[in-house]
Amino acid sequence: MTRFDWQDISRAAQLIRDGALVGMPTETVYGLAADATNDQAVARIYATKNRPTFNPLIAHMASLDMAQQFAHLDASHHKIAFQLAEKFWPGPLTLVLDQRPDSPISALATAGLSTIAVRVPAHPIAHALIETVNRPIVAPSANPSGAISPTLADHVRQSLGERVSFTIDGGASAIGIESTIIRVVNEKAYLLRPGGLSRTTLEEAINQPLIARKGLTDEQDTNEAAIDAPGQLASHYAPKAALRLNIEMPSPDEVWLRFGPSQTDYHHPHELWLSHNADLTEATANLFAMMHLADQRCTEHQLKGICISPIPDTGLGEAINDRLSRAAA
Ligand code: TXA
Ligand code: MG
Repeated sequence: MTRFDWQDISRAAQLIRDGALVGMPTETVYGLAADATNDQAVARIYATKNRPTFNPLIAHMASLDMAQQFAHLDASHHKIAFQLAEKFWPGPLTLVLDQRPDSPISALATAGLSTIAVRVPAHPIAHALIETVNRPIVAPSANPSGAISPTLADHVRQSLGERVSFTIDGGASAIGIESTIIRVVNEKAYLLRPGGLSRTTLEEAINQPLIARKGLTDEQDTNEAAIDAPGQLASHYAPKAALRLNIEMPSPDEVWLRFGPSQTDYHHPHELWLSHNADLTEATANLFAMMHLADQRCTEHQLKGICISPIPDTGLGEAINDRLSRAAA
């Protein structure tokens, strides 16, 4: 359920204008929001998350029109990127674009790159907040760097506490995993981070395969620096407890995150179902919340760790497996 309260939005907007940090609900995960044009506020984001400053942030815009004020994205010169923006914004898609030379966005937000990652969120509260502030809002996921991403306002409060002035409660994030990040170079689309918009949906829309960032050929290497997602750290999204992947036979002293259908009526003492009927959309929405829960159970019951059933690598499964492999690294 999305709660929408104008008082929350004007309070959050005022805090952001004053350079403070606010927990902002989005349809993917909760973001730690700040004014993208305020160097000090952006610096506060890196300090609060303990995030390496070479890892740039996503600028959230209210519309495609607004994005065009800060980045190059026009229908005739950037056909593929524009097509993607038109079709999937607002929504869980981030485009890495060339920044306009006169852009007022803090250089710290883009880690000094000439490109900028842009997203137009679909969550009505995020949208209203950007419109009210009337500036781009940078918002990394609202968790300490390397930890599990938040899909509830409570996750933000638990992990960042007093370091965030105010978190707007917008209910559970409907998608539950971060946006898919795409960079288009010479009208070819590169997948920098799998996410809430699946590869097949994107490939069908642009009628070309997405090129894996790691699958670059020598010929494309000259562009390599331009199509990197520098923040894709090997270890990320990690619970405190040990994590084992692709497990069909867990031990009783682990929490088991299960993905159905169940082969037997075996009940594990600490099972949590990502999805009973092998629904990847449902599993995606549950993933981070259940990892938070599993972590708590491990502490409460002094369990050995968390294990997870195999997840197919199709559709949203690609993003789930990306996060799980980093969480286990
Ligand atoms: O769904 C999302 O994208 C969420 C919500 C809050 O909008 N935000 C999010 O932000 O996931 P964060 O900071 O956790 O991840 C941002 C990613 C990083 O992997 C970073 O390296 C990449 O975006 N990125 C940012 N700017 C970039 C750029 N100019 N070029 C390449 N990658 C960039
Ligand atoms: Mg993150």
